[in-house]
Amino acid sequence: MISAKSGNLLLVGFMGVGKSSLAKELAKSLKTICLDTDKIIENMEGKKIKRIFELKGEEYFRKLEQDIAFWLEKNVKNSVISTGGGFVAVENLKEIGKVVYLKSSFENIMKRIESHPNFKEKLAKRPLLQDRKKAKELFEKRGDIYKKSADITINIEKYKNRKEIIKEIMQFI
Ligand code: S3P
Repeated sequence: MISAKSGNLLLVGFMGVGKSSLAKELAKSLKTICLDTDKIIENMEGKKIKRIFELKGEEYFRKLEQDIAFWLEKNVKNSVISTGGGFVAVENLKEIGKVVYLKSSFENIMKRIESHPNFKEKLAKRPLLQDRKKAKELFEKRGDIYKKSADITINIEKYKNRKEIIKEIMQFI
């Protein structure tokens, strides 16, 4: 059973694993709202993530993620929160809500992105996915932190579709 004081559920996992689309459906099933840390940052800055990386760099972006994390902890309740792939490193992650780790192999994630009709767009908007070798290294490096942060881990490769994944998550809440 996972429940948090805040009532929030946080979806974490590597880029392209499907956090945003799953968060939207999960929120619908739970009859609550869905927030997305990348979208909040884009709205705050008035720029796309890609542009923020180009203009201000990754360190600046990480600082924004931490600011958002403190804001979420203080202000948000009973919501489903989709996070950017690196958000998991914020210092107060566990204070925001219960953490659901969407796990998948790197190969499966790449296959998932490449089979998308908007493949080029999906790839282009992610600065850290441009160089596949570096992305794989990042994936390896992040494995442990996702695992350690997770209250529940969902191996998405085991399920046929999003509906099944949602059913599984719902059993824990
Ligand atoms: C990042 C993941 C991206 C976005 C940014 C950095 C990362 O979000 O926050 O490009 O460090 O893994 P998605 O996980 O939604 O692609």
